[in-house]
Amino acid sequence: MKRYYLKTMGCQMNEHDSEVIAGILASLGYVPTDELEEADFILYNTCSVRENPERKVYGHIGAFRLLKEAKPELVIGICGCMPQQRDELESILDKLPHVDLIFGTHNIHRLPELLERAQSGERVVEVWDEAEAAPGEDSRDGLPVVRRHNVKAFVNVIYGCTNFCSYCIVPYTRGKEHSRLPEKIVEEVRGLAQQGFKEVTLLGQNVNAYGKDLEINTSFADLLRELNDIDGLQRIRFTTSHPRDMGDDLIEALADLPKVCEHLHLPVQAGSNRILRRMNRGYTREYYLQLVEKVRKAVPNISLTTDLIVGFPGETDEDFEETLSLVREVRFDSAFTFIFSPRKGTPAAKMHNQVPEEIKKERIYRLIDLQNEISAQYMQQLLDQELEVLIEDLTSEGLVGRTRTNRQVHFTGDPSLVGQLTTVRITNASTWSLKGELVEK
Ligand code: SAM
Ligand code: SF4
Ligand code: F3S
Repeated sequence: MKRYYLKTMGCQMNEHDSEVIAGILASLGYVPTDELEEADFILYNTCSVRENPERKVYGHIGAFRLLKEAKPELVIGICGCMPQQRDELESILDKLPHVDLIFGTHNIHRLPELLERAQSGERVVEVWDEAEAAPGEDSRDGLPVVRRHNVKAFVNVIYGCTNFCSYCIVPYTRGKEHSRLPEKIVEEVRGLAQQGFKEVTLLGQNVNAYGKDLEINTSFADLLRELNDIDGLQRIRFTTSHPRDMGDDLIEALADLPKVCEHLHLPVQAGSNRILRRMNRGYTREYYLQLVEKVRKAVPNISLTTDLIVGFPGETDEDFEETLSLVREVRFDSAFTFIFSPRKGTPAAKMHNQVPEEIKKERIYRLIDLQNEISAQYMQQLLDQELEVLIEDLTSEGLVGRTRTNRQVHFTGDPSLVGQLTTVRITNASTWSLKGELVEK
C-alpha cells in the first residue's frame, strides 16, 4: 500500500484542489498519512498570495532532503500557485534539487501520468499558463474527489481571475476567468445532495463574474435560483464577491432564496479612495457604503465579513484612519486582516513609497483591536438567542455546527445528529466562538 502526505497552504480553491488530488491518489491506490516518514509521496499544494507561506515551502521542503536520502524512491512534489510563476518555478528547480514532480493549477487532471513518470526517476515539470479547455468545458469534470467533510462540500463555479488588483498575484497563477456550465454545476450539486450533503459553498475568486465568459446568457443570480430548487440541499454559501460586480439581481437572490445563507463576504481592502484607486479595485468608499446599505436593507440580519490590507504602498496615516473609520461605520461581523506583502510581477510591488514594516505592524494591531471589539459585541448580542444550526461534525468536545450566518457553535448532543438542522440556544459567547444547548422541539 502506498501512502501520501498532502499539505495544503492556500485559499478554499486550493483546499478544494487538494480534495481532487486526494481523489485521484485514492483511485491510484494511495492512502493518506500524517507521518512524513511513512510517506511514499509528499506533495505541497502551495499558495503565493503572501510571502510567508512561500518561504515556509522552501524551509519545509529543503529539510526533506534527508528523508529522500534515506528513501530514494520517495517522490517529493510541489503544485498549486507557486510553480505558476516563472521566477518562482526556476527558483524551486534551482534551490530544491530533490523535488521530483512539479505541476501547476491547470494540470491537476494530469497527475496519474505525471506521478508515474516521476516514480520512474524522471524529474517532471508540467505547468500550463491556462486551462486547455473551450468555454464552459472543465478538465476536472468526472475526476474523483475525496472530500474533507461529510455534511458540506465545495463546488467550483468559476476558475481564475481577470481583475488584476494591483497587489494581487492570483490573476497570474490562476489564469483568466473560466466559468463552468450551469448544467454541470447543477449536476454536481444534485449528486452531492443525493449522497446526503446538506450544504454547498460555491467557489470563485469573483463569483459575481460567473457566466460572463460563457456563450449562453446566464448569471450568478440565475445559478443560485437553479441550485435553490435542488431537493435535499439545505444551505447554499458562496465566496468571494467583488463589490464592483455585485448587482441588484444578486442582492434580490440573497433576499428571496431560502437556502442561500445570510452571510456575505465582501472584501473592501481599504477605506481611502486614493488607495482603492491605486489598488485598482474599481469602486470608491462611497459606492461600497451604499452597497452595504442596499444589502442590509434587503437582508436585515445578514452577516457581513471582509478582507482588509494595511500598509499598501503610499498609505499615509490619513489613509489608514479612513480604513479604521470605514470599519467603524460598516461594523463588519468579522474581517481577515493582512499586512501588504509585495508580490513580484504585480504593479504594487514596484510602487514607490513602500510602507516601513514597523508602521505596517502598528497599523495592523490597531485594526485588529478595533475589529475584535466589534466582533465581540456581535457575539454578545447572540446570548440567549435560539438559532438554526447545521451540525457538521463530532469532536472530542461534542457536536459542532454553524449558524446560517456562518458562526461556529459548540454544544453537546447525540452523535447521530450530525448532518441535521437543529435549534440551539446560545449560552456562552466569546470573540471567536459560541457555546449553546440543543432546544427540544
Ligand atoms: N478574490 C478575492 C477578493 O478579491 O476578495 C480574494 C483574493 S485573495 C485569495 C484573499 C485576500 O488576500 C484578498 O482579499 C486580499 O485582502 C489579500 N491579499 C491579496 N494579495 C495580497 C498581498 N499582496 N498582500 C497582502 N494581502 C493580500
Ligand atoms: Fe486578487 Fe483582486 Fe482577483 Fe481577488 S479580485 S483574486 S484580490 S485580483
Ligand atoms: Fe493562494 Fe493561489 Fe488561493 S495564491 S490564495 S492558493 S488562488
